[in-house]
Amino acid sequence: MCGIVGYIGHREAYPIVLKGLQRLEYRGYDSAGIALYDGEELKMCKTKGKVADLKNKFEEEVTTNGTVGIGHTRWATHGEPNDVNSHPHYSNSGDLVIIHNGIIENYDSLKKELKKRGYTFKSDTDTEVLVNLIEDVIINEKVKLGKAVQIALNQTIGAYAIAVFNKTKPDEIVVARLGSPLAIGVGEDEFFVASDASPFLEFTNNAIYLEDGEMAVIRRDKDVKVRKIHDDSLVDPYVQELQMNLEQIEKGGYEHFMLKEIHEQPNAISDTYRGRMLVDQGIIRMAGVDDNMERIANAKRIIIVACGTSWHAGLVAEYIFEDIARIPVEVEYASEFRYRNPVISENDVVISISQSGETADTMAAIKLAKEKGAFTFGVCNVVGSSISRETHAGAYTHAGPEIGVASTKAFTTQITVLTLMALKLGKFKGTISHSDFQFHLQELERIPEKVKEALKSDELIQEIAAKYKDAPNCLYLGRGYNFPVALEGALKLKEISYIHAEGYPAAEMKHGPIALIDEQMPVVVIATKKGHYEKVVSNIQEIKSRKGKIIGIVTKGDEEVRDLADYVIEVPETLESLTPLLTTIPLQLLSYHIAVLLGKNVDQPRNLAKSVTVE
Ligand code: M6R
Repeated sequence: MCGIVGYIGHREAYPIVLKGLQRLEYRGYDSAGIALYDGEELKMCKTKGKVADLKNKFEEEVTTNGTVGIGHTRWATHGEPNDVNSHPHYSNSGDLVIIHNGIIENYDSLKKELKKRGYTFKSDTDTEVLVNLIEDVIINEKVKLGKAVQIALNQTIGAYAIAVFNKTKPDEIVVARLGSPLAIGVGEDEFFVASDASPFLEFTNNAIYLEDGEMAVIRRDKDVKVRKIHDDSLVDPYVQELQMNLEQIEKGGYEHFMLKEIHEQPNAISDTYRGRMLVDQGIIRMAGVDDNMERIANAKRIIIVACGTSWHAGLVAEYIFEDIARIPVEVEYASEFRYRNPVISENDVVISISQSGETADTMAAIKLAKEKGAFTFGVCNVVGSSISRETHAGAYTHAGPEIGVASTKAFTTQITVLTLMALKLGKFKGTISHSDFQFHLQELERIPEKVKEALKSDELIQEIAAKYKDAPNCLYLGRGYNFPVALEGALKLKEISYIHAEGYPAAEMKHGPIALIDEQMPVVVIATKKGHYEKVVSNIQEIKSRKGKIIGIVTKGDEEVRDLADYVIEVPETLESLTPLLTTIPLQLLSYHIAVLLGKNVDQPRNLAKSVTVE
């Protein structure tokens, strides 16, 4: 999704804004732009393409210095990706300039009104409408920029994070948010604005995260005044100290963020359970669950809402919660749930899973569940994110920043948190025996080492990737706990290599997908010893007799599948409920290596955004 960056202070703004845009590249975008004010003129440069293209263009066309600037990476919603539609956008007078992440849904009617009043538009964007609306308010109501932004936003419907600058008042930037994230970095006599903290981490660890419906006037060398957009009330801004460091958001010697994040999983998983799981004492501590134990454990039903990979983690959790805590679970795409008038009661607990904590549909699903009286629980990675703040309680995954668009460590750490939660509930409810509980804790503690072992198959996986990289289609099969892993494996391949892939429960193969199998079709089958092994082996036989190419993900030492498959990739043995934490590793590596061999942009696949902050 779009990324926004801004700076006002005593340093040169251009390198800060440009680097900030590079740090936001992971969000996914198709064009980029910068506007700088050099004390006299407002200079703008924007282009379709990457931030590297913007840098070249800027350095060719613009020779300016300035201590205030804004920049944007655009993920097109209104209007195709091209230079004109890229942000920033000027107002008609050329005094105002704006960057925007989100959608102004009523932009068309606003545009018609503005046209009647003589405004003209160069782009097809909703954003250009907004900046002219602000200008119109300044002219007609004779108010300052901050007030004008507030009045204008109260006429809009939609979602936004914006930063606006007025060259006639060059010592302030006005920002606002509703439904799209916005953080203000607070330095020594300088301020930063960004969609997340990564653009300003090297300058300051202090940040103000605006809440939905808030705006701020940021004044150079002075202060940040935060108020509610709707009723104008002043808000005391909370300056939060960030725990992230720069190293976490850099590649650290790996060729891609995705590969780094795949290899970070042993540590990410132990970071997720560290301090929570006290194996010797047989205790799991999770404040968000402890404080609401009765409410959660007595839920008539748990509904899990999420999108994409997080939805797959939710499917794994369905098995875990039902198995261990004996609470009925439904897993829903947040985008469907929010619009289908679901039956929800006060006895339901709605768990949202989101790496970014900003996914628009997941956020809307949570709001709906709250309105209907459900207790809401958020499993998020990004600390302080919108979903983590909107929910009644929650648990962070502590995976560290995930920059690659394709989720990897987010998935395994979500499963880890949800496993801890299910075990805790099971213990409280008495649906798991003490010895079983203890055994789960001990085994979970061994998972990071086992993930390390699974990562050792990298070379073999590269060989397999080379063999099948040109396949036009690929099928992924798994059963039980590993059915969602099959879905996740297929998603990984699709999103970064653009090869069509389908994930299926292995037993469903006979109800359709088997028709696709011929000697061209690679079929990845998760066939670990625990969990319907014999049944899956029968499915493998069926694939083999139709000449499909079989890549088996098997438990270490398995000989039966080895005899049938073209390749086998071994993972260490573990409890059935924990196998997804291991079987997903070779699938991540397989998609990664295929994408690299095909020369695809692994970390920023086409059309995709890291956090989907629009519907
Ligand atoms: O930030 P979220 O977990 O809410 O994002 C949901 C999906 O957009 C996300 O999981 C997406 O499917 C993955 N990045 C794909 O790898």
